[in-house]
Amino acid sequence: MTSLPPARILAIETSCDETAAAVIENGRALLASTVASQMELHARYGGVYPEVASRQHILSAAPVVEETLAKAHTTLGDMDAIAVTRGPGLAGSLLVGLNLAKGLSLGSGLPLVGVNHLEGHIYSAWVYKDGETPPPEPEFPLLALLVSGGHTELNLMESHLKYKRLGATRDDAAGEAFDKAARLIGLGYPGGPAVQKAAEGGDPDRFNLPRAWLEGSWDFSFSGLKTSLLREAQRIEKEDTPLPVADLAASFQAAVIDVLLQKTLNAAREFGARQILVAGGVSANQPLRQAFLGQREFPVNIPAFALCTDNAAMVASAGYFRFAHGQRDGMEMDILPTWPLS
Ligand code: KG4
Ligand code: ZN
Repeated sequence: MTSLPPARILAIETSCDETAAAVIENGRALLASTVASQMELHARYGGVYPEVASRQHILSAAPVVEETLAKAHTTLGDMDAIAVTRGPGLAGSLLVGLNLAKGLSLGSGLPLVGVNHLEGHIYSAWVYKDGETPPPEPEFPLLALLVSGGHTELNLMESHLKYKRLGATRDDAAGEAFDKAARLIGLGYPGGPAVQKAAEGGDPDRFNLPRAWLEGSWDFSFSGLKTSLLREAQRIEKEDTPLPVADLAASFQAAVIDVLLQKTLNAAREFGARQILVAGGVSANQPLRQAFLGQREFPVNIPAFALCTDNAAMVASAGYFRFAHGQRDGMEMDILPTWPLS
């Protein structure tokens, strides 16, 4: 970190249903972050409605950037680069942020840096609020578990911007599984927080739901778990008894956490990781955080709660490290999910 040049980055994130902007200094000190959530707009559809999302981004993006620069007491002239999420995500949503970033870059002459959204989630672990004592930086090699609505992956991160993807989900992402499970047992959208809340006071051992260990692979699978939950719910409904929502939610949540924790610990042992990093929307789950922080074998870094779900602070951080390592993108940059991340 000390050898990297100082820089201030403005970042824009519009990959899904949050319009977000942030200003960060030297990849870690967050001067300002704004997240305009569209959750209420999409709740009536039970999920993100892509066309509605991109239209709302068009309305919100420029004001969100202006508000963020003002909150940071900065102007575009104080920035060294503009970072923007270039994928993966919803094409129509990504395009809004990318085009705004290109326009700002063209108008200001500031370099443009495209960021992979998943890399952004990982870099949320580097961010702290300006003025607060900086927490220690994550140490390499680290084992990064990425658990979001669209992805579930285990990556070995050997140094800044260098990743080895060990495994990923073969079907549903962990967040997607939470969202679908919520629907199956009559809970609202988004499913993750709803399942967590419903599970409070529930018995996680009441239903012995399956864990897909997929021995010999670092992959995950959650579709069997989801089907088992559905079968249990259908069986109970046939008996004409009220659905034990709390117990079902708690049993489901415990099964997801169990697999995520055990496989991550195994991978950390196998690859000699110095620490574990958990990121992505599902890392906001309290019992999951407790499970990871409760084990004593590896130090664990989980981003602050507000940085778990989509935001631009994480994109600003990843953008800084890419900028500091020489990445520059041009007006031809497209919304192409880039993977591997290197
Ligand atoms: O990272 P994120 O905001 O967006 C993507 O990049 O996908 O993750 C959203 C996902 C959703 O599936 C949501 O249900 C899940 O994160 N999530 C949670 C919790 N909060 C959000 N899952 C479990 N427990 C939570 N508390
Ligand atoms: Zn995300």
